[in-house]
Amino acid sequence: YLNVDAGQPIREIPSTLFGIFFEEINHAGAGGLWAELVSNRGFEAGGPNTPSNIDPWSNIGDAKSVLLVTDRSSCFERNKIALRMEIFCDSEGTNQCPEGGVGVYNPGYRGMNIVEGESYHVVFWIMSTGSVNLSVAFTSSDGLKILAASSIIASNSEIQNWTKKELILKATATDHLASLSLTSSKKGIIWLDQVSAMPVNTFKGHGFRKELAEMVADLKPGFIRFPGGCFVEGQWLRNAFRWRQSIGPWEERPGHFGDVWNYWTDDGLGYYEFLQLAEDLNTTPIWVFNNGISHTDQVSSSTIEPFIQDILNGLEFARGPSNSTWGAVRATMGHPDPFNLKYVAIGNEDCGKQYYQGNYLKFYNAIKLFYPDIKIISNCDGSSKPLEHPADMYDFHIYTSASNLFSMTNKFDRTTRTGPKAFVSEYAVTGYDAGKGSLLAALGEAGFLIGLEKNSDVVEMASYAPLFVNTNDRRWNPDAIVFNSWQQYGTPSYWVQQLFKESNGATLLPVSFQGNASSKLVASAIRWKSSESKEEYIRVKAANFDSSALMLDISITGLPSGSIRRLDSKLAILTSNNVMDENSFDQPKKIVPIAVAMENGGTDTSFPVPSHSVIFMDLPID
Ligand code: AHR
Repeated sequence: YLNVDAGQPIREIPSTLFGIFFEEINHAGAGGLWAELVSNRGFEAGGPNTPSNIDPWSNIGDAKSVLLVTDRSSCFERNKIALRMEIFCDSEGTNQCPEGGVGVYNPGYRGMNIVEGESYHVVFWIMSTGSVNLSVAFTSSDGLKILAASSIIASNSEIQNWTKKELILKATATDHLASLSLTSSKKGIIWLDQVSAMPVNTFKGHGFRKELAEMVADLKPGFIRFPGGCFVEGQWLRNAFRWRQSIGPWEERPGHFGDVWNYWTDDGLGYYEFLQLAEDLNTTPIWVFNNGISHTDQVSSSTIEPFIQDILNGLEFARGPSNSTWGAVRATMGHPDPFNLKYVAIGNEDCGKQYYQGNYLKFYNAIKLFYPDIKIISNCDGSSKPLEHPADMYDFHIYTSASNLFSMTNKFDRTTRTGPKAFVSEYAVTGYDAGKGSLLAALGEAGFLIGLEKNSDVVEMASYAPLFVNTNDRRWNPDAIVFNSWQQYGTPSYWVQQLFKESNGATLLPVSFQGNASSKLVASAIRWKSSESKEEYIRVKAANFDSSALMLDISITGLPSGSIRRLDSKLAILTSNNVMDENSFDQPKKIVPIAVAMENGGTDTSFPVPSHSVIFMDLPID
């Protein structure tokens, strides 16, 4: 049986222990958490990166009635490309336009989710050689039904120069795979640029897709690491994420082609929005910045100074007073108060590279000089040998099989108790065991997380990777949250993270197995207080990696007798018939923790633990 000694608390678990890692991979942000419906809103994504130079925009009408080309006429200096739409047909004369007009449409990220009763904010920039009457509509996937429509009527004097137009479209019908169309039946030339469509209703009103942000908020993350991953590094430095290019008015952002995960991002979800998201989730931001190193090229330590200044500017943007140079830019964007940025990571997975140590030290010294309170995370693994440079924390990444990860429950047992703490900033079961998110993967992860909880004196933070996948563009398997334009569900790995969310800031209690304990059974216990009910609980978690079921008898010692209300205790089990089972859009809750009634209302201390399962039990304390 399992004994929990509630009288000998071990330590308070860091309030940051379990958090999230957001990377722009799998269209996690563009076409995902960022609620922008238009893909390639500035017509900038073309060139060698996409099949057409305005992809995924396309024409409505044939070559005799409309011609779409791009030119460099935009009024935005950092993204000069605009769409030039020449309409040959007219509502009068011999070349009559077809009913509904001709023009251009954008299907978003493989379909826009337009929902009856919801309102959408459409913004675009327009210029023309004459007057215009432009219809703006959301249309059904077959193009036959108008879901929401409005129009812009403007005289030539009004739009002979670039002019911003805004509309609110309210949907009268639903289609999950809709498009946005801009059409006219009037001969002439219209230029369009920076076309955006956002649902009016977003998470905290800051542009995040509500259902996805709520799934993240539900994890009560202790931190958010962003924006990558390899996304930060780039295959080549020229394609790395640059904070400076991702701030300011969205129309002026150049966007960039992420060459590691191979897609364009308009960078509507930029550095400012990540900081805002952290604030909206009431969590701690961790900014991973490019340190002059990509997968292919590197800036030498003797020439890294401009990159360092750029990062210092980025820190001033986040934390400086609103009258500082970069703090003022933040204030203009709507956030006069500094953001609570206290952690940065210098690069991602770059430790072994030629200039890492040299570049790292230069970034480290400069940041500590101006921001001594900022905690700095190194890419070098300090779990088995000391780091060669100063650091507050070190990254530890692990992607492996389920049995390996489960057995790594002891990974940090022998790590030195002095020196920088571990940030397990990426962990997951991958490969055959994982499929697209199996129960088996979640079991391996549960065993590993139990070990991290026990070693939370040397492990300060941990996050699963990747967080999101849009099923229309899977670049990595498995992931925690799966979605398309309108549906979403958590994989079993997501649900395992749910079981650990109350551990942040809780008290770790010692557990010991008595008798013949299986090496495939690991457990931990915490004492935690519900912020909602203010009740205190002991939570016992156990992961059974074995193919046999067992009986578990839980005894709690060290508390005055009668202080545990066994009758009100709750038991839940995460399991399935087959270890390779997965959740899906059709069965999103096939594998989730299921409450199990306990015999004799919980007064029986012993209960069956199924094979291949994770159990958790909450026992209220008076
Ligand atoms: O999580 C996916 C990728 O795995 C990350 O971008 C990278 O850091 C790691 O190699």
